[in-house]
Amino acid sequence: MALVFVTRKIPDIGINLLRAAGHEVDVSQKDGVLTRDELLTALDTKPYDAVLSLLTDTIDGDVFDAAPSAKIFANYAVGYNNIDLDAARERGVTITNTPGVLTDTVAEYALSLILATAKCIPEADRFTRAGKYDGWAPELLLGSDMKGKTLGVLGAGRIGSGVATRAKKAFDMDVIYYDIKPNEHLEKEIDCTFKETVDEVLKEADIVTVHVPLLESTTHLINEDRLAMMKEGAILINTSRGPVVDEKALVKALKDKVIRAAGLDVYEDEPALAKGLADLDNVVITPHIASATEETRGKMSEMAAQNVIDHLAGDTPQNVVS
Ligand code: DGY
Repeated sequence: MALVFVTRKIPDIGINLLRAAGHEVDVSQKDGVLTRDELLTALDTKPYDAVLSLLTDTIDGDVFDAAPSAKIFANYAVGYNNIDLDAARERGVTITNTPGVLTDTVAEYALSLILATAKCIPEADRFTRAGKYDGWAPELLLGSDMKGKTLGVLGAGRIGSGVATRAKKAFDMDVIYYDIKPNEHLEKEIDCTFKETVDEVLKEADIVTVHVPLLESTTHLINEDRLAMMKEGAILINTSRGPVVDEKALVKALKDKVIRAAGLDVYEDEPALAKGLADLDNVVITPHIASATEETRGKMSEMAAQNVIDHLAGDTPQNVVS
């Protein structure tokens, strides 16, 4: 039996799996993200052998040192930019994530944001609820079509490819994409065009959807200059990580109609929003829920738990990132 700490309540399936494997599991009782002090204190209460962490936990050297016997931190997310991998390596701590299980869900969500934004759905909902609908009108809340428009995908990994495939097959969009190298698998699956640079995608696409991991090189990948390169009628969608887009610059670009609209599920300084963002009508904003379906959050719970179980059994977990 080993001692496992889970930093916040997650769907039961993973907790039950850990307990069924014979481990003692403590789940943080706080209904919210543990502050740094709370996390350090919690890890100090028992000699934990494993930690199941969330993307909202900043996991660095001090956190590893607070739980010196925990040689695995299993992140309940595919993204792991919240974890200091160098500090983990220095201490021989294994880090795992939850890839694959959320691909379809996030791809579906990105498409939902594209549609919601292009068809002005939240704006139309607000308009109707406000009692402003006084009869059909030829130019009321005009949106744009998908068919024949160009979707630009930045980052054609699992999720980016999922969005590209759906956009092509369901809406007959033209798809262009940028990644560090061409994605042969995607090019076999659908007719799409690789672009050598981010800028080419931004200049040509009607809708740009971002699916890159957050790295030093992708921080503010979309900045003021790049927003200025986009078409005047363009839409920007971000379901990856907030800091990939310079949010302040985006607010300005949306206000000044440099681009037409944006759909965001992630923010630079979550849960805070950039000043003025929520006042804009031409942005759809949601609270980092792209992977939030019953099915997927359950699978993420199961996968993170299995990573812990495998590690504690002396096996290599399936989803090691470092
Ligand atoms: C992830 O897994 O990285 C998502 O952002 C949260 O579901």
